[in-house]
Amino acid sequence: MSKARQNGLKAYVKNLFMRAMRPGLAPLHARLDRLEAELGLARQRAAKDRGELDYWRWLIKRGGSEKQHGEPFAVVFGRWQRHRLLKLAEYLGLPQDDRPGNIDEWCRARSVVEIGAGPYPAVAAAKKGWKRCVAVDPLARGYVEEGLLPSACEGVTYIEAQGEDVPLPSNFADLVVCENCLDHVSDPAAVVREMHRLLKPGGLVWFFVDLSDHRDYMHPHPMTEARVRELFEGFVLVGQELTPHKAHPKAHSGLRALLRKPAHAPEPAVVAPPRPATRGGVNGALPPAPRYALGGQEDAGAPVAREPEIKVSNGRAVGAPGR
Ligand SMILES: C[S@@+](CC[C@H](N)C(=O)[O-])C[C@H]1O[C@@H](n2cnc3c(N)ncnc32)[C@H](O)[C@@H]1O
Repeated sequence: MSKARQNGLKAYVKNLFMRAMRPGLAPLHARLDRLEAELGLARQRAAKDRGELDYWRWLIKRGGSEKQHGEPFAVVFGRWQRHRLLKLAEYLGLPQDDRPGNIDEWCRARSVVEIGAGPYPAVAAAKKGWKRCVAVDPLARGYVEEGLLPSACEGVTYIEAQGEDVPLPSNFADLVVCENCLDHVSDPAAVVREMHRLLKPGGLVWFFVDLSDHRDYMHPHPMTEARVRELFEGFVLVGQELTPHKAHPKAHSGLRALLRKPAHAPEPAVVAPPRPATRGGVNGALPPAPRYALGGQEDAGAPVAREPEIKVSNGRAVGAPGR
């Protein structure tokens, strides 16, 4: 056994012995343990935030976008985020062009919160803005104060906060957007609970995450399809797809989904796998609501959904700039 390991073990046994000898100090020890755990989490978060902000500085200020993609950051991300918004239009069965009732008019009439927004959030791609539009990110201050935001973000209010604890009232939003963020946060379940709280009954979550086995300090919670389903069990799945488009080079694919907070309490848990994505075409009407076997009331008695027949192509990632 190495010297360091021996010393660590000795300190541990000594600590246990001291605690056993002085039971009256147990509450104090418990408090110190909690403080130590909180400090550890705070240190981890600070390291993650530094790494994340350095990446964006490099991409935006130091020309990393031109090196990687041949065009400035605002152009690359503007095109990419617009594409994501048009994808939402496709899921909602709304026109993606200038016809009445298109996605931009839909956004104009709604309140949105984007969690883990980054310096060019998807919400900034709505051409007519939103009723209310809030971007939540622990790095908000850095993004704003360092001048990293493009002009498209002028109508977006940035709040510096963790997605686990968003300082906005309940039932604030018609739509919560969470793009390429849930594997970055400290507590994914707490973030999904916040999405649920922030949404009005019947409100929607527009969601994307990498599916991956790769874990590092910036991506502490690699996601699988099963884990995502478990996290969102309080929501109804409107549609989903697996896609070769992914954000991190070590991810194997991406998961795109539209989910709905149930309109009626008590809120049901989805207990069966979701059906394949049901998406309307350009002119399509709103897709029919998918049917699930539910633990609660909504659509109870519907046939049990089958495993989605979704194929992931082996093609190279082409959508999102690599991270
Ligand atoms: C990979 S970036 C994605 C940014 C943007 N959504 C996009 O797709 O371009 C992940 C973002 O999540 C943010 N983030 C990290 N931990 C978070 C947390 N606990 N709550 C909310 N956002 C977080 C990071 O600061 C960063 O801006």
